[in-house]
Amino acid sequence: MRFSISYYFKLLLLITFIYTLSTASAASSSSVKGVREARPRQFRMQIFSRPYSKGNVQTIRAINGASSPCWNLSSKRVGSYELNDPLVKVTFYRSSDCNGAPSATYYNQHSSKQSHISIKARSVSVLKVKPVILKEQHKDL
Ligand SMILES: *[C@@H]1O[C@H](CO)[C@@H](O)[C@H](O)[C@H]1NC(C)=O
Repeated sequence: MRFSISYYFKLLLLITFIYTLSTASAASSSSVKGVREARPRQFRMQIFSRPYSKGNVQTIRAINGASSPCWNLSSKRVGSYELNDPLVKVTFYRSSDCNGAPSATYYNQHSSKQSHISIKARSVSVLKVKPVILKEQHKDL
């Protein structure tokens, strides 16, 4: 026998310690994931008249996530926008009250901003996109 009993005891302690560490880190990483996947309770979007979050700003909010269908815009020009829920489809319309043809549609998905768009619009609608669509896209990658 090359190893003493106390060596095995120390080894056992070490294994127990590593096991505790790994389960603890697994638990914390899954909670981080949970935070990431959670949708914000209040959807918030800032629309800027100029690119890179400059110019006049209009802030729109929806309490139940992005469930309100339509907002009129205060500025006719849209240069950029930021939002706190990337899992939405953003559609800008040339007319007020989201009537008529869209001027642009954006699926944000991985990003929380569009920093350089130059469109004319009078209203915007925001619809939630299901996270399932994201998972399907990950499979394709
Ligand atoms: C949007 O603008 C149109 C035209 O000015 C107005 O009739 C309508 O009431 C507005 N809608 C909202 C939700 O403010």
